[in-house]
Amino acid sequence: MSASKKVVLAYSGGLDTSVCLAWLKERGFDVVTFCAELGQGGDLVQAKANALKIGAIKAYSKDLQREFAQDFVRPALQAGAIYEQKYLLATALSRPLIAKHLAAIARKEGAAYVAHGCTGKGNDQVRFEVALAALLPKVQVLAPVREWELASREEEIVYAKERGIPVPVTKKNPYSLDENLWGVSIECGALEDPWNAPPEDAYQWTTSPLKAPRKPTVVTIDFVKGVPVKLNGRKMPLVQLIARLNALGSKYGIGRADLLEDRLVGLKSREIYEAPGATILHAAHQDLEALNLHREVLDFKELVARQYARLVYDGLWYSPLRSALDGFVKETQAIITGSVKIRLTPGQAVAVSRKSPKSLYQKKLATYSDQDEFDQSASKGFIQIWGLPYRT
Ligand code: ARG
Repeated sequence: MSASKKVVLAYSGGLDTSVCLAWLKERGFDVVTFCAELGQGGDLVQAKANALKIGAIKAYSKDLQREFAQDFVRPALQAGAIYEQKYLLATALSRPLIAKHLAAIARKEGAAYVAHGCTGKGNDQVRFEVALAALLPKVQVLAPVREWELASREEEIVYAKERGIPVPVTKKNPYSLDENLWGVSIECGALEDPWNAPPEDAYQWTTSPLKAPRKPTVVTIDFVKGVPVKLNGRKMPLVQLIARLNALGSKYGIGRADLLEDRLVGLKSREIYEAPGATILHAAHQDLEALNLHREVLDFKELVARQYARLVYDGLWYSPLRSALDGFVKETQAIITGSVKIRLTPGQAVAVSRKSPKSLYQKKLATYSDQDEFDQSASKGFIQIWGLPYRT
């Protein structure tokens, strides 16, 4: 076997990628696997052992949570990136990071191929492959699931059993899940009929808002230059801060979304999401921006947010547009320092207090009390000119 038939496979330890591994091996490839720890839960040590057992020549794994939070989640939060008003992009943000590490391993291993376990009708295949095109243009991508003859999970299980592949024991789950620190994406099963309300068992993290505690909890989040750095006065790394908010928000059923989504490949799909921590952080961040940013900047930033979400969704992370938008966003974040209190109630995270050394709010201008310093007499002239076009 020649060294040129070496492939680096993005391996999760699940059924699809386990079958991918065996399938590639049967076609003469030396398979190197890579498992990314992104806060999805599950046993990476076990996954690595399984990869070797199935026949990988080498199995890598790496905890990428810090890098994910710092380099992918943070800029998306600061940009206010939300796709189609609801999706906070957990899955979409993780793909370019995984691709970056696949490319690095392929380079190190001298592998000419990279493989993933995405289907041919989703967005993830596009995200992986466009990221790889930008990072390692000569690499050839293999997508076994797009090619093979196995038509269902059952057929994959038969294929695996015939070859003695350990079939990962997961609780029987009719849904397709993708999970990381920033949220869970859930599709398939009963969700495929948009007329079906999401069954309660589809939700992975959150308690139903109908069963959440009535008694509110208030959390305080401190930001420095647009980065959340403290939770309830305690300084902590971003990964930990998000994880804490996920736990708290989950109890209140915060961050559920039910979306009829436009996929890049042209079809509409019905998906649901849970992103409690992300929802709380977006609410807090937006509130602080409302306090500190000029109206014109806020207005323009909404356009940027939309475009940012779109490019993340569309797999264009490694693009000149993203660098350019990051430049704008970074400029706006220099003054996003301050504290916001968020009240958690069933299904809702609402900002109730905010303060900042960079606040543009001035009580002496806004007040209706006798402390008022706003020159009300000047309004007469202002309105005369402002209204002039309508008078003429
Ligand atoms: N529709 C979402 C996206 O495109 C989630 C995809 C979920 N992926 C999965 N393998 N279940 O980002």
